[in-house]
Amino acid sequence: MNILLLGSGGREHTLAWKLVQSPQLSKLFVAPGNAGTASIAENVAIAGDDFPAIKEFVLRNEVAMLVVGPEDPLVKGVHDFFLSDEELKDVVVIGPEKLAATLEGSKEFAKAFMMRHSIPTAAYQSFTSATLEEGYQFLESLQPPYVLKADGLAAGKGVLILNELSEAKSQLKEMLVDAKFGKASATVVIEEFLDGIESSCFVLTDGTHYKILPQAKDYKRIGEGDTGLNTGGMGAVSPVPFADDTYLAKVEERIVKPTVAGLKKDKIPYQGFIFIGLIKIGDDPKVIEYNVRMGDPETEVVIPRVKNDLVSLFKAVGNGTLDTMDLDIDNRVAATVMTVSGGYPEAYEKGKEIGGLEKVSDSLVFHAGTTLENGAVVTNGGRVIAVTSYGETIKEALASSYANVEKINFEGKYYRKDLGFDL
Ligand code: AMP
Ligand code: GLY
Repeated sequence: MNILLLGSGGREHTLAWKLVQSPQLSKLFVAPGNAGTASIAENVAIAGDDFPAIKEFVLRNEVAMLVVGPEDPLVKGVHDFFLSDEELKDVVVIGPEKLAATLEGSKEFAKAFMMRHSIPTAAYQSFTSATLEEGYQFLESLQPPYVLKADGLAAGKGVLILNELSEAKSQLKEMLVDAKFGKASATVVIEEFLDGIESSCFVLTDGTHYKILPQAKDYKRIGEGDTGLNTGGMGAVSPVPFADDTYLAKVEERIVKPTVAGLKKDKIPYQGFIFIGLIKIGDDPKVIEYNVRMGDPETEVVIPRVKNDLVSLFKAVGNGTLDTMDLDIDNRVAATVMTVSGGYPEAYEKGKEIGGLEKVSDSLVFHAGTTLENGAVVTNGGRVIAVTSYGETIKEALASSYANVEKINFEGKYYRKDLGFDL
């Protein structure tokens, strides 16, 4: 079977690494891919939202499965595009349709979904410029810190957590009236602040049945001790020590089951990954957010622990027979360390030659932001290379990744040296 994978990050290199291990795969194409995917599959210069070009490519290359890495093509309706096209409708698409992608594309939609299905989450209300005064009153009724969320996609920057009421009010006005995040903040969700420890739960579903993948925890802040600006993720570990069996049973009963059942009840078709951002408060889980894709860099530790043939799992998603599959999970710990460009997540330079990759041993190298320039691998993004290792313990896995990260060099290379400090 020929498969086309959309995306260009560490998540996609990891998915590609896994897909090419399947005996059922004939040819893997990645659009647009990176230098890492180029070494194991064929990169194709097509943007994820260029649906006519994707169609032409899929037909010409007899692609039977489309795997969508990032949220953008899903939110723009790539799955719907395939379903509504006579020639494409039989291609299996991994990634939900536009309506379900709204769980990630609109915080208000996600909150209303959780309320409707009694899924534990922070109390909230949403406001528009017409209800700014009511928004001020709601803020006055809350205790600090104040959580303000732009309803729409805002490149990961749309959530503000503020300690002062006056600051919360002025930011609310900036979001609603002055379009601080453009159209994304035309509606703002104000939430109760939740104090707990976060982790990521990934579910693969065919819309009726589901499989819960290994738990993971990512490190979002740029600085050690979880300080400084938010990033896409500086590293991740799997499993998560505090997510023990008792906790996971609650996650499944209170969150995963009602989520999958709620989608069905609401007639929201879903084929693909659901990423549930969890927060543990005391001994209980609540949902911080839904994403409609795998996480990055969580994929770099979750997928290497899945021993199943990924093509078989994806085929079962397409057929609605995921209940016939049993997950086979590697008991070892996996940890990944992300190297990033100097300056990230603010301005950084690209095009720096990356050396030392051939010296890495006993670890997996997943390219995040790289490209090929005259045969050389060069940096092409803020997050550059993730190094994943297995171990008996988190400490052991991290030590192995750190030893290999030392061997990789490019101008401006930075990484967090304290991953796992809180576990
Ligand atoms: P989100 O985009 O909704 O995942 O929010 C981004 C980050 O903001 C989360 O990963 C949390 O660290 C934090 N956050 C979001 N909502 C809350 C909340 N209600 N209470 C505390 N922290 C939150
Ligand atoms: N690592 C968080 C995300 O992928 O959104």
